[in-house]
Amino acid sequence: MTTSNGAPILNKNDVLTTGVRGTILMQDVVFMDEMAHFDRERIPARVVHAKRAGAHGYFEVIHDITKYCKADLFSKIGKQTPLFLRFSTVKGEMASADTVRDLRGFALKFYTEEGNWDLVGNNSPIFFILDPILFPNFIHTQKRNHQTHLKDANAAWEFFSLRPETLHQMMHLFSDRVMHGFGSDTFKMINAEGVPVYVNFHFKTKEGIKSLKPCEATRIGEDPDFYIRVGDEHSAENCPFNAFDVTKIWPKGEYPLIPVGKLVLNKNPLNYFAEVEQAAFCPAHIPGIEFSPDRMLQVSLTPPLEKEVNLFNGRIFSYNDAHFHRLGPNKNQLPINCPFRSRAFNTQRDGVASYNNQGAAVNYHPNSINGPQEVKCAKIVGDRIAAGDYLNFDQPRVFREKILCEEGRKNLVANIVDGCHCALPFITDRLIQNFEKVHPDFASMTRKALEEKRKCTKEEKHASSL
Ligand code: HEM
Repeated sequence: MTTSNGAPILNKNDVLTTGVRGTILMQDVVFMDEMAHFDRERIPARVVHAKRAGAHGYFEVIHDITKYCKADLFSKIGKQTPLFLRFSTVKGEMASADTVRDLRGFALKFYTEEGNWDLVGNNSPIFFILDPILFPNFIHTQKRNHQTHLKDANAAWEFFSLRPETLHQMMHLFSDRVMHGFGSDTFKMINAEGVPVYVNFHFKTKEGIKSLKPCEATRIGEDPDFYIRVGDEHSAENCPFNAFDVTKIWPKGEYPLIPVGKLVLNKNPLNYFAEVEQAAFCPAHIPGIEFSPDRMLQVSLTPPLEKEVNLFNGRIFSYNDAHFHRLGPNKNQLPINCPFRSRAFNTQRDGVASYNNQGAAVNYHPNSINGPQEVKCAKIVGDRIAAGDYLNFDQPRVFREKILCEEGRKNLVANIVDGCHCALPFITDRLIQNFEKVHPDFASMTRKALEEKRKCTKEEKHASSL
């Protein structure tokens, strides 16, 4: 047995005191270590879906869907991708009963070779609300009353009565029809040729639909098969209702389920807190897949659906924000969240509990040393448009020519050289190329001053080493 810094513990039954009836000593580092950590054991619970269980497993492709999707995990039949799945109830607190009537969360983290894909779904293909701004208030109506801390039938049923879009999900919830897994939101898949389809993800349990009866803890389905339902932009446009409305179901006749593969759960977590509680699923993590105009998720600017454009970042914003609150800025470095089959390589550094601080790699972009580079093939819909007009040399030229006097121009060069002579030569060469575009004299003066400075520095170093 050791303390948290690895020092052996001789006695963990008695505190260190000034005598049998004496006071405890501050120097009892074993006690301090134990108590200070205990005081900080609890982290904020999830604001929804706090009650939980998790399992590890894998997803295996059984049917080819490459005509719909270029994501690597679907790239060939037989391909297996490890995953972690967290089941949850929605409204209850961490110690609440499993058996309450409630939706069940079905959150998946696929550890793909392109980075982690989080599909944060429920056991229902639809949801109560269509607009994310209603979510916090809707959830308040489902939780305990803030005054009495008891369940509040008025709040829940008033919300249902005031917002008719809740009717569909409410009727599902109060029926027996709820035990598969669904991605619920509509996403977009793009194939290698760039052809898009809109998609719903369905996981059908092999155990069939089983209803939870009050006071009956039933195991939730394992080994679900995985299906998708797809529709193209044209059919989305002609759909009699908003095809991206998560309170509606796509009609089975028009959008049949397309089988994809099987999802197998075959390993229990070894450590509840490390794996289940610290797991963080985020609908914004969708490598190889894209967002649709589903308002609960996010915006799409793809024609011909411009009219669907909205400015909400519903779930895409909320989950990440919650993870910052619960787990801190390095949440994705935790083993359960770490994209171990790809690699997080970026310019993020430090923050509380930075375990992988990316060694000596440079922490700025752009860079030409050994830092992260952009991945050209990672383009998705939408453009990142540079705001600059690229007239980068005109005003510097005016400044040098018109504002600085001759002495000022010399000082400018001397000061720059003072600052940059220690930088690698390929970096100063590039700097001088830019100076050239301001004025050839600026470049030649800098080149000359730099050579002299470097020569002097070399000689000084040599002299001091003698
Ligand atoms: C968890 C927000 C709609 C499924 C959460 C959490 C937040 C959140 C803040 C806690 C995250 C954490 O601390 O790790 C929202 C908002 C929604 C929304 C703002 C609407 C705009 C939905 C919908 C679904 C869903 C439609 C189902 C498709 C889940 C699941 C979890 C969750 C399964 C638990 C994830 C886990 O096991 O860690 N949601 N949610 N949510 N949400 Fe939502």
